[in-house]
Amino acid sequence: NRVVLAFSGGLDTSVILKWLQQTYNCEVVTFTADLGQGEELEPARAKAQMMGVKPEHIFIDDLREEFVRDYVFPMMRANALYEGTYLLGTSIARPLIAKRQIEIAKMVGADAVSHGATGKGNDQVRFELGYYALDPDVKVIAPWREWDLTSRTRLIEFAEAHQIPVAKDKRGEAPFSTDANLLHTSSEGKVLEDPWDEVPDYVYSRTNHPEEGPDTPEYITIDFERGDGVALNGEGMSPATLLAKLNDLGKTHGIGRLDLVENRFVGMKSRGMYETPGGTIYHIAHRGIEQLTLDRGAAHLKDELAPRYAELIYNGLWFSPEREMLQAAIDHSQSHVTGTVRLKLYKGNAWVVGRKSPYSLYSEKVVTFEDDAGAYDQKDAEGFIKLNALRLRLLGRRQG
Ligand code: ARG
Ligand code: SIN
Repeated sequence: NRVVLAFSGGLDTSVILKWLQQTYNCEVVTFTADLGQGEELEPARAKAQMMGVKPEHIFIDDLREEFVRDYVFPMMRANALYEGTYLLGTSIARPLIAKRQIEIAKMVGADAVSHGATGKGNDQVRFELGYYALDPDVKVIAPWREWDLTSRTRLIEFAEAHQIPVAKDKRGEAPFSTDANLLHTSSEGKVLEDPWDEVPDYVYSRTNHPEEGPDTPEYITIDFERGDGVALNGEGMSPATLLAKLNDLGKTHGIGRLDLVENRFVGMKSRGMYETPGGTIYHIAHRGIEQLTLDRGAAHLKDELAPRYAELIYNGLWFSPEREMLQAAIDHSQSHVTGTVRLKLYKGNAWVVGRKSPYSLYSEKVVTFEDDAGAYDQKDAEGFIKLNALRLRLLGRRQG
């Protein structure tokens, strides 16, 4: 008779809190995660308290380092992109929230968990696959699939009837649905629903207009160790600090904006806008250091696995044996992905302009067009090509 609610402190989850207390006549425990969404979290505490949640049942946890170290970086090792472009900023945060919620449920002796995702999207799947994987017998309450507050107006009426504060701009139609953390901010719905209409400027919240970036390019370096970023411009820092600093740089130069129509797991297409400033730079840099340090066979196999891996993350299968198997293979590939990448940032773009590594497989001696002093024997290529051509010649002869 206790339920742990993933509580942002916003209007929707506040209504859910009250609705759970009323409908299930249960004690609600709130959990608010700091994933670097850049919002004050103390107001969430005040709100929960005001709605009768006991102080010892209000959990506000700073998960920023764990998020970047144990979720974002492992995913970045895979170069994961959903449908070729989306860096999975929302998808990768859900398993961590689910895990912490289940931990709290065990701590406070709750038998149920609840979340504010609608019944139309991916997030419900991600939360709940996480819950069930970590606690097979947990009871899941998804208010959006149960209640009759099916319109914005009814939600606000419910809030007002129960003295839940409604921000002024929420009284009208909310402009869109957003989700933010250290990796990205996503926006969907309302003004974005017609995929022909360009995203209006005011929807962007954490990147400058690329056209308005500085007129002089900026050069930076990122150091990698075994596939993970460890330093910016030679200064060592923690995963979350590194990502936060890259976010600042990406913001300045307007890097990491994406306007995408994607396929949701539940079957419909949706149109979203993503801002992933630091993650975009990091992704490009990681590929840069892999160019030098991964063998061709390993690199190409990774490129085949990456879309599979991305789909697992997107579909909420972080806690699955197949994701763990892929992760093990990917992590293994990173043993020599160590070195430094130099990038140029300029008006919406980040590109690799230099890379070096103590484990580089690049051999100037072998590749040079100048005298290679016997490092490579040109004559070897003749037999190599002849044997590769053999079946093409046989086919050609048959063709006549
Ligand atoms: N479409 C993206 C995804 O599935 C973003 C979802 C945003 N979620 C939200 N509750 N606003 O990962
Ligand atoms: C939601 O349904 O809460 C947001 C959209 C999604 O999860 O895909």
